[in-house]
Amino acid sequence: MPLTSPKEMFAKAYAGGYAIGAFNVNNMEIIQGIMSAAMQERSAVILQVSAGARKYAGQGYIVKLVEAALAESPDVPCVLHLDHGASFELCKDCIDGGFTSVMIDGSHLPFEENIAVTRKVADYAHERGVWVEAELGKLAGVEEHVSSAEHVYTDPDEAVEFVERSGCDSLAIAIGTSHGAYKFKGEARLDFERLEAIGKKLPGYPLVLHGASSVPQEFVDMCNAFGGNVGGARGVPEDMLRQAAGMAVCKINVDTDIRLALTASIRQYLSEHPEAFDPRSYLKPAREAVKNMVAHKIRNVMGSGNSF
Ligand code: G3H
Ligand code: 13P
Ligand code: ZN
Repeated sequence: MPLTSPKEMFAKAYAGGYAIGAFNVNNMEIIQGIMSAAMQERSAVILQVSAGARKYAGQGYIVKLVEAALAESPDVPCVLHLDHGASFELCKDCIDGGFTSVMIDGSHLPFEENIAVTRKVADYAHERGVWVEAELGKLAGVEEHVSSAEHVYTDPDEAVEFVERSGCDSLAIAIGTSHGAYKFKGEARLDFERLEAIGKKLPGYPLVLHGASSVPQEFVDMCNAFGGNVGGARGVPEDMLRQAAGMAVCKINVDTDIRLALTASIRQYLSEHPEAFDPRSYLKPAREAVKNMVAHKIRNVMGSGNSF
């Protein structure tokens, strides 16, 4: 099956009380690991590419790698999505290059400017059958082009006005998550009341949760045991993500956990095999570690298995 739009997968996820995992991809091993997990679990999947990933690998390489993965697993409903598009031009490039979904991230802009840039992307994308995700509210921490010391949680009434006026197809909201491996200083807490309020005001409308890695302790420990220093990392507990997936959240973004799984595996392998220098020797178990992590996530967090 060719790359698909998220439209149908979100409709099924919304109705079924689950979410689709959106996994960040940067290279061949990550794409292969995610796709083999999706195939094994019979789950739809979103492969998403940040501007940084696009710069690292090259858009042409990423698109061809994804096409190759699809040729190998043709049954898996798969979306190719731009993560955190900072401008109309970047979104346009990805739409023209074959992406089936783009995110225009104007969350750092004043409300009216965020609406204006989102509207412009939506008009261009919709004429070409491409899905548009936007963001309202700010996640704390540093995003590629956005740095915010504090969370600015999404206001439910503004969310309604934003969706109506911008024409976006799905909306990323801020309810307490943040990007990266250090999400909570004290107790982990998400604003479920706010999520419920937004969901009620936008019935049937798919919401998106960024910054949703769980930062599994086993990967943190493994990194630290084999020469790393990622002490104190904390993610969103899996039960909270599962709860959000049962509400209006239809897309859950995961990047940090992929990085941790891959790096923990490589650190362990190289530490236990100091003589190794063939990249295939350590990338093979690393790819398997990504696959196992994604399969676990599909089963225990997204709930999207057996969806095709
Ligand atoms: O939201 C950010 C994603 O984790 C992408 O990170 O911009 O370093 O590729 P990146
Ligand atoms: P994490 O850093 O929690 O994996 O979030 C990734 C993300 O939101 C990508 O857009
Ligand atoms: Zn994000």
